[in-house]
Amino acid sequence: MPIAGDFARRLPKAELHLHIEGSLEPELMFALARRNRIALPFPNVEAVRAAYEFSRLQDFLDIYYQGARVLVTDEDFHDLALAYFRKAAADGVVHAEIFFDPQTHTERGVPIGVVIAGLVSAQKTAAVELGLTSKLILCLLRHLDEDAGIATLREAEPYLEHLTGVGLDSSELGHPPSKFVRAYDRARAMGLKTVAHAGEEGPPEYVWEALDLLKVDRIDHGNRALEDPALVARLAAEGMTLTVCPLSNLKLCVVDDMALHPLRRMLDLGLKATVNSDDPAFFGGYVGANFTAVDDALDLTPAEITTLVRNSFTGSFLSEAQVSKHLVAVDNAVVA
Ligand code: ADE
Ligand code: ZN
Repeated sequence: MPIAGDFARRLPKAELHLHIEGSLEPELMFALARRNRIALPFPNVEAVRAAYEFSRLQDFLDIYYQGARVLVTDEDFHDLALAYFRKAAADGVVHAEIFFDPQTHTERGVPIGVVIAGLVSAQKTAAVELGLTSKLILCLLRHLDEDAGIATLREAEPYLEHLTGVGLDSSELGHPPSKFVRAYDRARAMGLKTVAHAGEEGPPEYVWEALDLLKVDRIDHGNRALEDPALVARLAAEGMTLTVCPLSNLKLCVVDDMALHPLRRMLDLGLKATVNSDDPAFFGGYVGANFTAVDDALDLTPAEITTLVRNSFTGSFLSEAQVSKHLVAVDNAVVA
C-alpha cells in the first residue's frame, strides 16, 4: 500500500528541473491574455486543458510556446513565478533551481531584462514570504542555432549576478549537445554552472556529448542513458545528478506506463536520481504529485524516498554549508 507519497510531501526538498513557463496554469494564461489584450486560440480554460494530450515532446512544445505569448511585462513574470513558488512550497520545496527560456520572449520583443526583473522580484518575495530560496538557470533553445544562443548569453551579461547556470532545452532529436560547444565554453567562462536536457527522447550518445563536450554539472532527464551500460557506469562513478520528471515522462510518452518508469532501476544502478515536475501546469502536477504518482506505481520505500530527497540537495548548486543544513532538516523530518 503506497504511503510513501505522503511521506515525500512532508519532507523538505529541492526542485532542480522546472521550466517556469511550464508552470503557467490555464487560469493565469487567460488572466494575462486579458491584461495584455492578447487573443488565445482557445475559448476557455477547459478547452486549454483538453488540448494537453501529447504523443511526443514536439506536440507539447508547440502548445507551450503558444501559451508563453501572454507573458509580456515584468509583472507577468513575477506573478507566474510567485504562483509556482507558492505551489512548490505547499509540497515541501524549500529550494528551487528554475529554468527560463529567454529566447521565447526576446524573439517577440520582450527584453531579457524585463524577464529577469520579474523573476528576481518573485524570488525575493518567495524568500521573505515562504522561506523558499531559489536560483535561475537560463536555458538556450536547441532548435535555434548556436550563434543565437551565444547572442543570448551576451544579452544576459548585465544580469549575471542573478544567474546561476545555463541549460539546454526544446526539441532534442536532431539537435545534439555537440551543436552548442562554443556556447557552453562561453557560459563556463562567465562563471556559470551548466546543465543540459539529454536522453529524454535523444539517444545515449547525446548524454555522452553533454558530459564530454558540454562538461555539464547535471543531466536533465537522462532516461535513455539506461540503454548503455558503459554510460550508466560513468554516470554512477561521477555521482552525476539526473533530474528525472515522472509525470512529464508519462505525458510525453517517454514511458508507456508509470509502472514501467525507470526511477527505481536508476537508484538500484547507483545513479543519483531526483524527482521533479518539469512543466507542472501541462503534465498533471507539481513535485508532490510526481512523488505520489511514482510511489503509487512503484511502491517506493521510505528509504528510497529519503535518498531521492537527499539527492535533490546534494545535486543542487547550493553551497556545501547550505546543503548540510538542509540534510539535517531532512533527517529530522524523517524521524519526526
Ligand atoms: N522545455 C520545457 N519542457 C521541456 C522538456 N521536457 N524537454 C525539452 N524542452 C522543454
Ligand atoms: Zn525539462
